[in-house]
Amino acid sequence: PVSPAVVTVTGAAGQIGYALLFRIASGQLLGPDTPVRLRMLEIPPAVKAAEGVAMELDDCAFPLLDGIDITDDATAAFDGVNVALLVGARPRTAGMERGDLLSANGGIFGPQGAAINAGAADDVRVLVVGNPANTNAFIAAAHAPDVPADRFTAMTRLDHNRALAQLRQRTGAAIDDIRRVTIWGNHSATQYPDLTQATIGGRSALGVVDDQAWVRDTFIPTVAKRGAAIIEARGASSAASAANAAVDHVHTWVHGTPEGDWTSAGVVSRGEYGVPEGLVSSFPVTASGGAFTVVPDLELDEFSRARIDASVAELVEEREAVRALGLV
Ligand code: NAI
Repeated sequence: PVSPAVVTVTGAAGQIGYALLFRIASGQLLGPDTPVRLRMLEIPPAVKAAEGVAMELDDCAFPLLDGIDITDDATAAFDGVNVALLVGARPRTAGMERGDLLSANGGIFGPQGAAINAGAADDVRVLVVGNPANTNAFIAAAHAPDVPADRFTAMTRLDHNRALAQLRQRTGAAIDDIRRVTIWGNHSATQYPDLTQATIGGRSALGVVDDQAWVRDTFIPTVAKRGAAIIEARGASSAASAANAAVDHVHTWVHGTPEGDWTSAGVVSRGEYGVPEGLVSSFPVTASGGAFTVVPDLELDEFSRARIDASVAELVEEREAVRALGLV
């Protein structure tokens, strides 16, 4: 029998947590052969709600669910962790300055990074979902000097999936026939959803679409502003689709990308494509052997270069702000 993987979810009583935990416990995160020990980290006022979610998890009688621990202590939450899903974050509220937002999140992701550094399993993989996801991942990684930097990632898979969905709607193509879509940069409105390398059934996606204006004026802003459109329509931010993307991200990380395709993930830059080293930026990535690799040597046209530079400039600003605040 395989020993259970410890999967820690922070913000477990939140709306993404509610959509995520059941999928993890059912085996969709790590596959049908790996039992899961769930750790739910919450802040004290939400522990009772987390207990309620745990009762429902029990009531699913998932064969793969080895057990559930609920805690408000990060050290306990990350002890022996194999997969850490950092979902809980301080949301931006009306009138909140960016510095306040970064400070509040630095106060969460710094200590969580330190707790991962202190207690995680050797093979730990960390996915930051809570916003600002890239910079929160940057902060967590900075507090975990003993964990290889490539174990810290930020989620842009939801943006990637949104891009696939928009392209399917426009072209009628099957999702599995769409390949090599990329989200570059920050998980924010400055992100660059890039179709220049994408193919549909082996043909250039831009050729199939044959409408530059649609790509520039409809596709890119629709993907980049989809989060706001969901809030407007639903009265709450994306939760099930975010949880789905988190499952996809980790599943791909562990099980690999299909031959000839790639996905998008925020990873720690080693200077690829001129992105300053150490920034957590979204890139086209393949996964194999349990590791992500940035796709090398892509030709970037002028438009793509400018869009990537603009989003990376925002990441640099966020890094400078967290440095100035003493958060890293
Ligand atoms: P939510 O507000 O429903 O839940 C967040 C939970 O985190 C709450 O239960 C709260 O008590 C908990 N929490 C706060 N501080 C914590 C701490 N220090 N330790 C542990 N738990 C803590 O929010 P929701 O909708 O679940 O979203 C979570 C985050 O994910 C938000 O920051 C949101 O902006 C982000 N998000 C990111 C996406 C992405 O594509 N990267 C997509 C959608 C949401």
